Amino acid sequence: MKFLVTGCAGFIGSNLVEKLLLNSDNFVIGIDNFDAFYPKEIKQNNLKNFINNKKFEFYETDITNKKELKNIFSKHNIECVIHLAAKAGVRPSFDKQEEYIATNINGTQNILELMNKYNIQKLIFTSSSSVYGNADYEKLSEDIENLSPISPYANTKLECEKIIREYTQKTDINAICLRLFTVYGKRQRPDLAITKFVKNLMNNKEITLYGDGSTSRDYTYIDDTVNGIIEATKYPLKFEIINLGAGNSILLKDMVTLIEKELKKNAKIKYMPMQKGDVFKTYSDISKAKRLLKWQPKTKFEQGLHQFIEFIRSEQE
Ligand SMILES: NC(=O)c1ccc[n+]([C@@H]2O[C@H](COP(=O)([O-])OP(=O)(O)OC[C@H]3O[C@@H](n4cnc5c(N)ncnc54)[C@H](O)[C@@H]3O)[C@@H](O)[C@H]2O)c1
Repeated sequence: MKFLVTGCAGFIGSNLVEKLLLNSDNFVIGIDNFDAFYPKEIKQNNLKNFINNKKFEFYETDITNKKELKNIFSKHNIECVIHLAAKAGVRPSFDKQEEYIATNINGTQNILELMNKYNIQKLIFTSSSSVYGNADYEKLSEDIENLSPISPYANTKLECEKIIREYTQKTDINAICLRLFTVYGKRQRPDLAITKFVKNLMNNKEITLYGDGSTSRDYTYIDDTVNGIIEATKYPLKFEIINLGAGNSILLKDMVTLIEKELKKNAKIKYMPMQKGDVFKTYSDISKAKRLLKWQPKTKFEQGLHQFIEFIRSEQE
């Protein structure tokens, strides 16, 4: 199949493209603008893993640039769009709302317009567990109504889901919005807590913990997320919103203990107040993904953490 993957140089995008290219029937067109949220060199390094693959073609393009985007769509017979490009951090979104709206919402609209124009019928969109805000449920399931996200980032993701739903109603586009829950593993973004904790502890530096350690997250291992995205490309569903999580929730303080255990070191912890936009808990109900995509996560947190730490070690050597 011929895929267009936006955000292909990022954490999830680069792992996804690498996996897609293992199937010799696939061809991948990748788009990324090396957004300044974290250093370009990290993203260029991610790309090195497949930039020379003959079944991959890269465009350094911004998804808000309609003209360049149109050239790419007109040149290739794309069959499926996997749209990951976004401004992805929760905390910076408070100060950069306009930029988040431009990339996340207007960029998504550009993709939808061009998919419609070039009659491309399959879209996978990466939404986020953050759309649930602090919804007062033990497990978060897709049928929870009246969601109240608590950050501009999360608002843009919820808005995108709505826009995509509307497009599927008035065009031939079929779409699956996957609500990803905190993804971790190889090439993880430098702004995410696990990356910072592991690197600081390895280098005997203090770690900063926001809150008292009682917040919790459903951590999903990158390989499981990537497999879920690929499974989603196989199902002809008109429009669905589906959680992709590990179906587990780990306390922040327990996550730190597991990292200490794995590195055989004790962390020096600096406690700071919780930050604006951080939710208290995420815990996914993944029954819909199991039912509709026949997908299920395979990696236990301890195992994924071990693999991630091995990856950081190999990078530092
Ligand atoms: N990592 C997670 O835990 C997580 C959780 C929920 C949802 N998501 C979503 O998954 C997707 C990928 O996230 P990630 O963690 O890999 O983030 P990332 O920042 O590593 O990847 C996003 C990529 O998009 C690119 N990009 C940003 N703006 C662009 C633009 N205007 N034009 C073209 N490219 C642009 C960036 O340069 C980057 O390479 C995002 O949509 C994010 O919101 C991630």
